[in-house]
Amino acid sequence: MSTIEEPVAVDVDKLMQFVFRAVDEVGATLNTALVVMGDKLGWYRALAGAGGLSPTELAERTGSAERYVREWLNAQAAGGYVDYDPDSGLYSLPPEQTVALTDASSPAYLPGFFQIALGSVLDSPRIMDAALSGAGLGWGEHVHDVHDGCERFFRSGYNAHLVAEWLPALDGVVAKLERGALVADVGCGHGASTILMAQAYPNSTFVGSDYHDGSIETARRRAQEAGVADRVRFEVEPSTTYSGTGYDLVTMFDCLHDMGDPVGAARHVLSTLAPDGTWMIVEPAAGDRVEDNLNPVGRAFYAFSTLLCTPASLSQDVGLALGAQAGEARIHDVVEAGGLTHFRRVAETPFNIVYEARR
Ligand SMILES: C[S@@+](CC[C@H](N)C(=O)[O-])C[C@H]1O[C@@H](n2cnc3c(N)ncnc32)[C@H](O)[C@@H]1O
Repeated sequence: MSTIEEPVAVDVDKLMQFVFRAVDEVGATLNTALVVMGDKLGWYRALAGAGGLSPTELAERTGSAERYVREWLNAQAAGGYVDYDPDSGLYSLPPEQTVALTDASSPAYLPGFFQIALGSVLDSPRIMDAALSGAGLGWGEHVHDVHDGCERFFRSGYNAHLVAEWLPALDGVVAKLERGALVADVGCGHGASTILMAQAYPNSTFVGSDYHDGSIETARRRAQEAGVADRVRFEVEPSTTYSGTGYDLVTMFDCLHDMGDPVGAARHVLSTLAPDGTWMIVEPAAGDRVEDNLNPVGRAFYAFSTLLCTPASLSQDVGLALGAQAGEARIHDVVEAGGLTHFRRVAETPFNIVYEARR
């Protein structure tokens, strides 16, 4: 028997609101590429503190082609990234945008965020294939903008919070680091966190490890450049078998959920910790329930999780795929399943939650 479906009433005002929101989002999507362009070609840096510049002046100062610069400036002005003065025809970077787009020492520094987003979008056709087959895509298989963008984005947050707030929130850890502690930074990527800790605690020794050889190569170079290579070693090792024992502190920054076997990693942490050692886990900020994360930060993290974190975990043994919005309860489960009994949340920012675990 056939049924006749009732026509669904469409609210035309709501439809048009959604269409105009989509226009804004398409502009924002394309602007991701434009921000990376402005960052890499030095256009934001040339605008910073220059007062007003014409497209010709900006092109001359950066060795770029004026016609591209002019079109880019207009897109930036339409998006509120750059101010345009119609009387003079000059473009300028407001003070807040100057900080966010050119000051690498600020916690609000954004170019890395756009760079990792662009890299993720560039690799999305491969994720589409994986979404059909169920296969994963390893961290090392991504374009370089993912690795560089990740380092630059996370470093701003670590600069602002790691030494000033997160380490002091752990029970007794700073005193050990000041005396001289042995630290393993697991899943360290380009080693931004490892180097920052090494600079803050010159009596301590650090071993950074990551399963991606390209990241470790960069981390070694960064340690040389920062002048800490005598106390910082980097090794290509997965989290379930990294070397060494007797660690006073094991750290994992924004990587536990990327691992295929986080419970196996937790078990290994337990076996490598000194008897009174501490495991610090930094994870993306998230609530336990989907509905807790339906906000702009959750939106960005679910998107990165779809394109980067979930495929990274699925490409590895076990493939637990916690996702970047796992939430505290799920992270606690993983830690407990690994055999550690003490677990507490010690700090948080709009982007991260920091946990302390011990045997
Ligand atoms: C989002 S990045 C974070 C990198 C770094 N901790 C930071 O904060 O900049 C995730 C890192 O986890 C690493 N990773 C993923 N699975 C791993 C595993 N099983 N063992 C070791 N590292 C792993 C990736 O190679 C990548 O460097």
